[in-house]
Amino acid sequence: MRFDAAAAVLTVLDQTRLPFEVAYLHAHSAADCVRLIRDMHVRGAPLIGLVAAAGMAIAARCDSSDRALAVAAAHLLDSRPTAVNLRWALQRMQQGLAGVAIGDRAETAAALLLQLERMEYDCCERIAGHGYELLRQRAQQRGGDAPLQVLTHCNAGWLATGAWGTALAPLYRAALEGLPLHVWVDETRPRNQGARLTAWELAQAGIDHTIIVDNCAGHLMQRGLVDLCIVGSDRTTRSGDVCNKIGTYQTALAAADNGIPFYVALPSSTIDWELDAGADIEIEARDPGEVLQQDGQCANGDAASVRMANPGSRALNYAFDVTPARLVTALISEHGVYQANSVSLGLLRAALQSAAKDRFVGVEPL
Ligand code: MRU
Repeated sequence: MRFDAAAAVLTVLDQTRLPFEVAYLHAHSAADCVRLIRDMHVRGAPLIGLVAAAGMAIAARCDSSDRALAVAAAHLLDSRPTAVNLRWALQRMQQGLAGVAIGDRAETAAALLLQLERMEYDCCERIAGHGYELLRQRAQQRGGDAPLQVLTHCNAGWLATGAWGTALAPLYRAALEGLPLHVWVDETRPRNQGARLTAWELAQAGIDHTIIVDNCAGHLMQRGLVDLCIVGSDRTTRSGDVCNKIGTYQTALAAADNGIPFYVALPSSTIDWELDAGADIEIEARDPGEVLQQDGQCANGDAASVRMANPGSRALNYAFDVTPARLVTALISEHGVYQANSVSLGLLRAALQSAAKDRFVGVEPL
C-alpha cells in the first residue's frame, strides 16, 4: 500500500482481481477504507490494520475533531470482526492523536501511519529470521538433500502484510539462503486465498509449490509428504489459542495426529491480550454466496462467476476457526519463538512492553 499524505489518498493492490489482473484502487475517505476491508480488496490481519490506520489518517485530514475521529474509528472497527490488528491499529492512532492540537492532527496521523508500516515491516523481517532457523533445523533433523516439504493455509505473505509476510516470510528467507524447498498450498475455500494469492506470490518468487484441495492435507501427512506446517493468525489469545482462516483447525489436528510440527507466525499486533479463551473470539460469518458461487476466469480471459452448488440449497460461511493452543508447536513472533501458553506469552508481553517504550514515544504500550 502507498499513502500520499499531501493528497490524503491511499493506493492499494486490489486482491480480488489477483492472480488474473494487477489492478490498483484508491481510497479518498475513511468510508472508502471501510469498503476496501469489508469487501476484501485488502485482506490479511496486518494489512487490514494498516488500511484502517490509513482511514484514520485520511479522516484526520478532512475533519480532525474528536467527534469526527471517533466516528471514523467506529466505522473502521466495524468493517471486519475477527482480525484483532484492526482494533490494535485504531487504538494506536487514537492514542497517538488524543493529546495533539486539532490543527496538527493530520500531520501526526500520517507520521503514526508510517510508524505502524515500519513496525509491520520490521516484524516480518524478524519473523523471517526466527522462522528460517526452525526450517533449517527441521531440514537438518530430517537429513538428505530432498526439498523441505512445507504446508501452508490461506495467504500470510506480503499481500497480507505489506512486507515479507508472516507465515511466508521464513520461506522467502529460506529461498534466499538456498534451502531446497517445496510448498503445499491449501486452496483455502471458499475464497481461494491459497490457490489465488499464495500461489501467485510463490510463483513471483520462483518458489516451487503445488496447490492442493484443503481436504488433501491430512492424506499427504499420512504419506510422509509434509515436514512441517506454517500458517498465520488473525487473533491469538493470551493463552495461545489461534484463530485463523477456516480449515486451519483441521490441518492442525492432522499435523498432531501425524507428529508434524505446526507453527504459527504472527506479529505481536495479532495477540489479543484481553482474551484468554479462543472460544470467545467473534468469528466472521460471510455471505453464503461465496460458498455457492465462485469467481474465476474463462479460457478466453473473461472474468466469470459460476454456480458451484445445488440451486436452492443453503450454505454457511464461517471465515475463521480456532486452533487450540495444545495443537500449536510454537508461535513465531518478531521477538522470537514462544510456546503457545500463557506463561510463555507472558514473557513475550514483557519483551514487548520494554520495546514499545523505545518505538512509540508518548504512546502507552498496549
Ligand atoms: O479472510 P482473510 O483472507 O483476511 O484471512 C486471512 C488469514 O486468515 C491469514 O492467515 C491471516 O490474516 C494472517 S495474514 C499475515
